[in-house]
Amino acid sequence: MNAVHAITSAEEATQKARVSSMLSPRFYSTDYAAMDRINVEPVRQEWDAMMAEYEGDNNHDHFQRTAEFAAEIKTLPPALHDEFIDFLVSSVTSEFSGCVLYNEIAKNVSNPDIKALMRFMARDESRHAGFINQALRDYGLGVDLGGLKRTKAYTYFKPKYIFYAVYLSEKIGYARYITIFRQLERHPELRFHPIFRWFERWCNDEYRHGESFALILRANPHLLRGGNKLWIRFFLLAVYATMYVRDHTRPQLHEAMGFESTAYDFEVFRITTEISKQVFPVMLDTDHPSFRAGLHRLFECAQGMERAKAQGGVMGMLKRGGWAALAAVTYARLYLLPTKSNELPVQVRMAPTW
Ligand SMILES: [Fe+2]
Ligand SMILES: [Fe+2]
Repeated sequence: MNAVHAITSAEEATQKARVSSMLSPRFYSTDYAAMDRINVEPVRQEWDAMMAEYEGDNNHDHFQRTAEFAAEIKTLPPALHDEFIDFLVSSVTSEFSGCVLYNEIAKNVSNPDIKALMRFMARDESRHAGFINQALRDYGLGVDLGGLKRTKAYTYFKPKYIFYAVYLSEKIGYARYITIFRQLERHPELRFHPIFRWFERWCNDEYRHGESFALILRANPHLLRGGNKLWIRFFLLAVYATMYVRDHTRPQLHEAMGFESTAYDFEVFRITTEISKQVFPVMLDTDHPSFRAGLHRLFECAQGMERAKAQGGVMGMLKRGGWAALAAVTYARLYLLPTKSNELPVQVRMAPTW
């Protein structure tokens, strides 16, 4: 079954990006006054080295289209085309979500460390979003990013939730892009679109964005202790589960790259968990058989909800409620599975060696 809905116009692409659902990337707002009070003094040395990297801007010329780019675009089989477009629309939404959030923080704080960091990250995310949107425009499906900024709903998160959630999205973004890049480096015949050639240098930006949040968290160690460990578990599971369910609606996309969705996702979890040892005192045991089974159950619930929604009427509504309740129980069980604990290293930053 082809689980994604085909997007056939730029208006539909923008509408798809605007919709807020359990699985779609969101836009965030936060407490800017609290952001302004963030102190990075405890990690000053590592912070300054990182800021010098942002300043050096080694990707300033990377996000340009080359002449070969257009020549490499080919017509894809319809199911793959639909899933690829769905992937691009959700990717442009999450790149742009970062861009909007970092810009808003930069505008609303006077703390020089946070302001400078947010400006650099917004610069990177705006390049990323622009590059993906150009790829969508090749198909006549460019998303109206300005309109999206004005009309998409914003979710308010306290700064600490922003730190946990955005740290993880940046690192998982790195892990996703590098896993694809390495696979297509080994199998260039499976590279069905030129954009994947850009992923290596691109994901180093995401990696560095994650490093920034790791340093902020490590500079404020109370965010990594006590009851906050429960929040870290919550965000780890939320980010992993969302990715699993979303990816499993795009089986053709992974198959075309020589992956199977589950294997791809667990490789991404493995890398992300490894990186997260720099900052999180708890880790999910993603190899636990009940963890794997639970994620699959969540995907089945999501599929069940889609079918019930399509059915409509009272029966459809009841069935949807049933699937939602089952999803909630499954999520709670996953949350309660045993976790692994981790001793934080003295030096926070790690090299991106994947
Ligand atoms: Fe990005
Ligand atoms: Fe990023």
